[in-house]
Order: sequence, then structure tokens, then C-alpha cells
Amino acid sequence: MNAVEGKREFLIQQALEAREYSYAPYSGFCVGAALLGKSGTVYTGCNIENAAYGPSNCAERTAFFKAVSVGEREFEAIAIAGGPGAEEPDDFCPPCGVCRQVMMEFCDPEEFLIILVKSAVQTMDYKLADLLPMGFGPGNLGRQDQIKEGGEL
Ligand code: THU
Repeated sequence: MNAVEGKREFLIQQALEAREYSYAPYSGFCVGAALLGKSGTVYTGCNIENAAYGPSNCAERTAFFKAVSVGEREFEAIAIAGGPGAEEPDDFCPPCGVCRQVMMEFCDPEEFLIILVKSAVQTMDYKLADLLPMGFGPGNLGRQDQIKEGGEL
């Protein structure tokens, strides 16, 4: 069993639970995410909207920014659950383009697993490369090694 398989059920449950903290008074669309770092730590996130709309943040980026802000920079997988209202999602919620780009910054697109969660037993798996083909990332600037070393970059 690989690192993700051992935590898969937990990630799915955490994404569904993180939805409960969603602050979405404008769209009413509640999203939760659970991000698995290579350290084994799970970081949760929810969407956080704003009266000025533009400053709103997606659940996925909330989880990534929580993780990176405490030193985690490498990731295995993310589970995402989203839908209108507080009830269990009625469909799968794919990550927006901005969140895919944030994933591209910190994840290997061929390895990073994105688990879309409709319910505890209805999920769909993708690799980041499936959802962001030919993505532009740190490697395109020749900076991947520096970033992984955790130096100033
Ligand atoms: N949203 C997310 O949090 N993640 C996604 O993957 C898609 C969209 C949020 C942003 C906004 O608060 C609401 O869902 C409606 O777009």
C-alpha cells in the first residue's frame, strides 16, 4: 500500500468535513479540500468568500497556503468536495484553473493525485497532468531544484 492509499479514506472524509467550515455567503457553493503532504500531514481548507468578490479564496488554495506557510512544500494528493449548500455534494467539483496552477508550483504533475469526492463512496481520480496538460511550472524556469532544496526561493 503506497502513502496515498493508506490515507485515502481519511482524505476523503476530511474534505467532506472541511466543507462545513466553508464561508460562501455569496455563491452558496461550499467546497472542502484535504491535502496530503509528503511528511504525512494532512492540511484541510475551505473556500472563503469576500464581499468584494475578488479576494475570495478556493478551498484548495486555502489548504496549499496553510501547508506552505508552515514549511511543507511537497505533496502526494488532494481530495476535493464541493457543491451547493450544506448537503452532501450532488456532483463532482473539479479544481478551478487558478488552483491547478498553484498545484503545478508544488507538485509533480505526473504523480500528484487529485481525488474528486461526491460522497465517501463516489470518487474520481485524476493526475494533475490530466487536468493541466503541458502546465507551466518551476521547471520551465529551471528553478525546480532550488525550490525543492527549500532555500531562499
Ligand atoms: N471554489 C472552490 O473553492 N474550489 C473549486 O474547485 C471551485 C470553486 C469556490 C470558489 C467560490 O467560493 C465558489 O466555489 C463558487 O465558485
